Amino acid sequence: MDTKKIIVATGNANKVIEIREILKDMDVTLSSLKDEGLQDVDIEENGKTFEENAIIKAKAICEMTGEICMADDSGLVVDALGGEPGIYSARYLGRDTSYDYKNNYIIKQLEGKEGAERSARFVCACACALPNGKVLTAEGVIEGQIGFEQKGENGFGYDPIFFLPEKGKTTAEISPEEKNEISHRGRAFTKMRELLKDELQG
Ligand code: IMP
Repeated sequence: MDTKKIIVATGNANKVIEIREILKDMDVTLSSLKDEGLQDVDIEENGKTFEENAIIKAKAICEMTGEICMADDSGLVVDALGGEPGIYSARYLGRDTSYDYKNNYIIKQLEGKEGAERSARFVCACACALPNGKVLTAEGVIEGQIGFEQKGENGFGYDPIFFLPEKGKTTAEISPEEKNEISHRGRAFTKMRELLKDELQG
């Protein structure tokens, strides 16, 4: 089998590193939007679900380049907030508000709630668009609860308030390696790796 090129449709260099690690046993070369000179391409994520947004991004770049393209969309879903911030996680309460502000706001909204009433999950949808028009999709989820205070310095975004009851720690308190093993993104891309292997070898 020839080495295939896969474009990862993200501006986030950390995601490319994470995906490279997950796909390392496959005979593929990963290329970022920057490598393709497409870092300034603006794709409107107007889907209603994580999966729809991932598909929109992957298809747009695949159609532009004629290459296999992978994209993901992720976010935090808080049950007590009716699923917010959900697909609006990055722009919740305004794109320019800090995560310190967003996180404190969520903690405040959950005041008086205990245990299961604080349930939340990180969700990641991954889509891979192929030049033959086919689109593969995979989803990964990690379940947790909203903590009572922000804790930990690792990770990013909502990690300081995403508490894992079985570990007694937030995802900002565990190491990046430990997080990759159990994270929504790790799980979604591991599933995608298997789908892609079948597709490219089949
Ligand atoms: P996107 O998938 O790059 O569009 O990011 C969606 C947003 O969801 C991020 O900007 C964060 O606000 C949030 N998010 C997604 N994954 C994580 C995570 O692993 N930790 C903390 N926040 C996350």
